[in-house]
Amino acid sequence: MTAFIGRVWQLAQLDRQLSAVRRRIGPGERPGRAILVRGRRQVGKSRLAEEFVERAGVPAVFFTASTGCTAEQLELFARTAAASNLHAAYLFDDLRPDSWESALELFATAAVGDAPCILVLDGLPELVAADPALEATLQKVFDRVLSRLPVLVIGSGSGASPTSARRPAALRTQLWGVGSAR
Ligand SMILES: Nc1ncnc2c1ncn2[C@@H]1O[C@H](COP(=O)(O)OP(=O)(O)OP(=O)(O)O)[C@@H](O)[C@H]1O
Ligand SMILES: [Mg+2]
Repeated sequence: MTAFIGRVWQLAQLDRQLSAVRRRIGPGERPGRAILVRGRRQVGKSRLAEEFVERAGVPAVFFTASTGCTAEQLELFARTAAASNLHAAYLFDDLRPDSWESALELFATAAVGDAPCILVLDGLPELVAADPALEATLQKVFDRVLSRLPVLVIGSGSGASPTSARRPAALRTQLWGVGSAR
């Protein structure tokens, strides 16, 4: 892969979000954060998220949506999570979630620990296209579980997505500026 170029501002923004998660770790706190990275096709959204995860050096699940149906996406998510460096990634070895709700809840269980971690849902529009209920599910699981954990959720997708019109409020901090100028 070619060397990573630029994106200093965007990387700094992502870093600020992760620092905010880290700062709020503590009893009764809600350190979890969720952001949405948007930009035109092929502009570098996935590469930005990849680079950020690598530099952050914290446990992470980087899930890239396929074009398959929800069952296939869930299977892929479970395999990705099982192979990740998440605190209790092994939980995904035996359990195969059959809905996004249980997949995200299992992620939350596997993420338990004092250190922050990252969940990237790359290609969120594709996931929502396969399962329109995912927007509401993500909001619900974020409010109930993920917001209480030191987790940074990064949703990523192109601008002309279903999520641009009805974006889950959980993904309330938008990361703009993923434009073509590097
Ligand atoms: N900052 C960068 N430095 C070097 N190469 C980059 C950078 N950003 C993107 N690229 C390269 O440009 C191509 C497109 O990037 P990427 O796949 O991240 O775009 P995307 O916005 O996620 O596309 P899509 O909308 O199709 O998901 C890839 O080959 C990637 O390696
Ligand atoms: Mg991409």
